Amino acid sequence: MPRVLDGATIAAAIKQEVTEEVRALAAQGIRPGLAAVLVGHVPASEIYVRSKVQTCAELGLFSELITPPDTVTTEEMLDIVAALNDRDDIDGILIQLPLPKQVDTKALLDAVSPSKDVDGFHPVNAGRLQAGRPALAPCTPAGVIEILKRSNLPISGQHAVVVGRSDIVGKPVAMLLLHQNATVTICHSKTRDLGAVTREADILVAAIGRPGFIEPEMVKAGATLIDVGINRLTTREEFDRFFAGDAKREAAFAKRGSTIVGDVHPKAFERAGAYTPVPGGVGPLTIAMLMSNTVRAAKMRRGLD
Ligand code: GUN
Repeated sequence: MPRVLDGATIAAAIKQEVTEEVRALAAQGIRPGLAAVLVGHVPASEIYVRSKVQTCAELGLFSELITPPDTVTTEEMLDIVAALNDRDDIDGILIQLPLPKQVDTKALLDAVSPSKDVDGFHPVNAGRLQAGRPALAPCTPAGVIEILKRSNLPISGQHAVVVGRSDIVGKPVAMLLLHQNATVTICHSKTRDLGAVTREADILVAAIGRPGFIEPEMVKAGATLIDVGINRLTTREEFDRFFAGDAKREAAFAKRGSTIVGDVHPKAFERAGAYTPVPGGVGPLTIAMLMSNTVRAAKMRRGLD
């Protein structure tokens, strides 16, 4: 039976460590603070941001939620970011994506002070990461490394194959794996004979955003599967493609009218040596690493890191 890598347990351990760091900083009169900017009313974004703000409270961080209307302009957003850059009680600035189409997302992400860029999306942090300098790394990729390390799964010398080349997950996770001495291959939609490449993977990271894309025959027996995908299934047909005959999922689907599947087909997990389930694998790490990044940003800005 493959080993299930329980993200919630690992995230809880990280949050406990962050809580202790927050306590130690409090003794020096420092309280790390996170500002979350949530534009409009995108249901998924509202759930994520609420959870981020709530976790700040649980761990003892200061947080502030800023909620511009979905008619906000790029200029107004730039003013919000400029004010947050200037505030001494704010160590981390998080602009929840996606933004409405009239807002220039790149201009906005570029306007966040790199020292407060707890999402690790600023090109300066991307550059620092690839140059091997101290940097705020994107939360989900950093969480993937924590899962592997804290589960005592080897990275050094392993062949890690990353499927997906996004700036938010694929590229940074590849860089972090490389820094841990993995041999890294990045695949994408133009990769020839993708299955032949993924079958070589000791560690396979799926970050494509397509439900159940990694099929069983694309996986080497005993590989570690890291599934970064979060895809909502709402139709019976989609549900049956992945979960036909799964009584537990069936009950959840009947109750909610939807269920979540990752980028790895559930049948492919059966070939793995270890895997992150969806939900409950990589997901919980994203917020834990955001908290960790915010405390780190607070320390770095004061020359304490
Ligand atoms: N939207 C989806 N995931 C993320 C994330 O990690 N950070 C931000 N800022 N927005 C997101």
